[in-house]
Amino acid sequence: METQVFDKDTVAEAAALIRAGEVVAFPTETVYGLGADATDPKAALKVYAAKHRPADNPLIVTVASPEMVAQYAVITPEAAKLMAAFWPGPLTIILNILPNALSMVVTGGLQTAAFRMPQNALTREMITLAGRPIVGPSANLSGKPSGTRVAHVLHDFDGAIAGILDDGPTAVGVESTVIDMTVTPPAILRPGEVTPALLAPVIGEVATDRHKVGAKETPKAPGMKYKHYAPSAQVVVLDHPADLSDALAWAKAQGVPFGVMATDELLTKVPAAVASYSLGADVQSATHNLFAGLRWFDLHPTIKLILAEAFAPEGLGAAYMNRLLKSAGNTHFQRDGN
Ligand code: TXA
Ligand code: MG
Repeated sequence: METQVFDKDTVAEAAALIRAGEVVAFPTETVYGLGADATDPKAALKVYAAKHRPADNPLIVTVASPEMVAQYAVITPEAAKLMAAFWPGPLTIILNILPNALSMVVTGGLQTAAFRMPQNALTREMITLAGRPIVGPSANLSGKPSGTRVAHVLHDFDGAIAGILDDGPTAVGVESTVIDMTVTPPAILRPGEVTPALLAPVIGEVATDRHKVGAKETPKAPGMKYKHYAPSAQVVVLDHPADLSDALAWAKAQGVPFGVMATDELLTKVPAAVASYSLGADVQSATHNLFAGLRWFDLHPTIKLILAEAFAPEGLGAAYMNRLLKSAGNTHFQRDGN
């Protein structure tokens, strides 16, 4: 199949493909998603097949309005407050669904489903024109970093999906915050740009322990890393910039080509001969560039080790570190013991 690229002038054609049960990738403010008619189990199955995603991992239902959610789920007063405050935006809300409202293919057999109304106006137009919600997992092969640019999506899916709606690179760079509103207190299952500090004035305290990555752990064998956001090289987290020269010496001693992913300031201390990828100036640019950086190293497959700079796990830094630690399988550089 030839993957067609659509834009604002051809968004109606993209919507027609969704109505026809095809898969169309779409932009959001966080990462690109793989869209298909959420009311058509056969269409949703094509998304699992394209991503090689395990069938028990439920899909997000992506909507163009809160009214669309009301057709499928119970919107509690607290959930309505969240929608009013943060939608459209990078917050995915888990709600109890109405009996038999959604296919098991979408929910993974759960009585709940995750709903998200993205900021991207073109994507919302596509959903509105299609007249139905679309499933929206991140547009990456299962286990790989999420796609934040059209080139990433085509790298993973060219020829395997019917189309992609092109609206340039995504802004945030990591996926939405996922909040479970079916438990008390509400629980953040995945940190994102919408932080507990932003949620508190709207719905009070939320539980955050379900996504905690834990304190510094001893390095684990590369084979033990979880397959999530993982490039083919082993990522090693550099917690302290002051350890850079020790970490470079350690990486060199491993006898394999290695690279560094860090902010511009730290990169000034990395020898020019070392492959490096800039995370920009701060946690915001680092989050924006993280998945693109991990994918850049996959295009240079001789590199076997990537030293990647850490940020304090606060605010957006919690989302950045959650993804980075998963991509590293929790492997940290430690000054002693390596
Ligand atoms: O920013 C995003 O959320 C992107 C863009 C494309 O919208 N989408 C995204 O989808 O990241 P996905 O499928 O890659 O991640 C959704 C997460 C998964 O970890 C999934 O297990 C979880 O949400 N999830 C979905 N439905 C759930 C449910 N009913 N209960 C608990 N977790 C759920
Ligand atoms: Mg994903």
